[in-house]
Amino acid sequence: MSSLVSYEPYVDECADVFVERLTELSRAGASVDTGHWFQNYAFDVIGMITYAKRLGFLDRGEDIGDIISALGGHLTYATLARVLGGEKGRGRAFILHFTQQLMAASGTSRPSASANGNDDDGDELAAPAVESFLSKFQSKNVAAPETFTPYHVLTGCAANMVAGSDTTAITLSAILYYLLRNLAQQMLCLQAVIKEALRIHPATGLPIERVVPPGGSTIAGFHFAAGFGLGSRPCIGRHISTLEIGKLVPRILRDFNFTLDGLAAGPTGGWETHNMWFVKPQDFWFTVTTE
Ligand code: HEM
Repeated sequence: MSSLVSYEPYVDECADVFVERLTELSRAGASVDTGHWFQNYAFDVIGMITYAKRLGFLDRGEDIGDIISALGGHLTYATLARVLGGEKGRGRAFILHFTQQLMAASGTSRPSASANGNDDDGDELAAPAVESFLSKFQSKNVAAPETFTPYHVLTGCAANMVAGSDTTAITLSAILYYLLRNLAQQMLCLQAVIKEALRIHPATGLPIERVVPPGGSTIAGFHFAAGFGLGSRPCIGRHISTLEIGKLVPRILRDFNFTLDGLAAGPTGGWETHNMWFVKPQDFWFTVTTE
């Protein structure tokens, strides 16, 4: 819990920039692409938590290094081929190269707070040091170089970027959509609104199958015994996401008025979504004012 609280300044910093951008968009009277801006927020927060560095999605309002589009292409492939993996794509290459640069700059032998015993199990009242995932992974590499190699440092950081951004952005869109469609307005409690949006619109839309059928299975020359699975794999970022959402939603609802645009504002009030592993809203727009 203490490491989660330590991330709060990162979340606040990105929320500040998000509010700046929203203020500019409100002055321009422009229709706002909801998914795009929530993605910018979520990718910058994850960048900070993972690398202690803002990647600049919110600053530039664009897809830095084509990470978002490459991730979308990768997941489309994974959905259609039913295989998660692959090394190709400029966005993935960007993330790996970016991580390698930071690893080289800091070195894998740098001790961190967790290596010195100030880890997640510490006293929650003590002021938590802000420690990025990269730094934590590097400490693990120092402590157990044989089992936690630089490759694990690299893929751990990349996993955060892949798993932790679109999910949060989609959930933010769902919360706003259901609030503006009045479906969640009677809920007085923010946490209930978040949970209800996650229930009605889960950000991941495909089953995660991992049980081998009776008799076992041979796939690409590898034999998998019956019943073997990958074990319990809960989301490691769910509390981070709750922090990101819990800090942004009340703030923007307090400071801005939102009006749905496009399809969602039409007579059916529906919204289109596209399920390629992540269930992304399509063509989902709003206008925003500060009055
Ligand atoms: C609303 C936001 C989120 C949703 C809906 C979500 C959903 C999920 C789901 C369904 C899984 C698969 C669990 C399983 O295999 O049974 C998962 C795993 C994972 N999530 Fe999240 N997630 C969210 C936020 C995040 C964030 C912010 C991060 C990173 C900081 C993150 C990192 C991960 C990682 C690394 C895994 C793989 C865990 C493993 O296989 O050991 N997620 N998430």
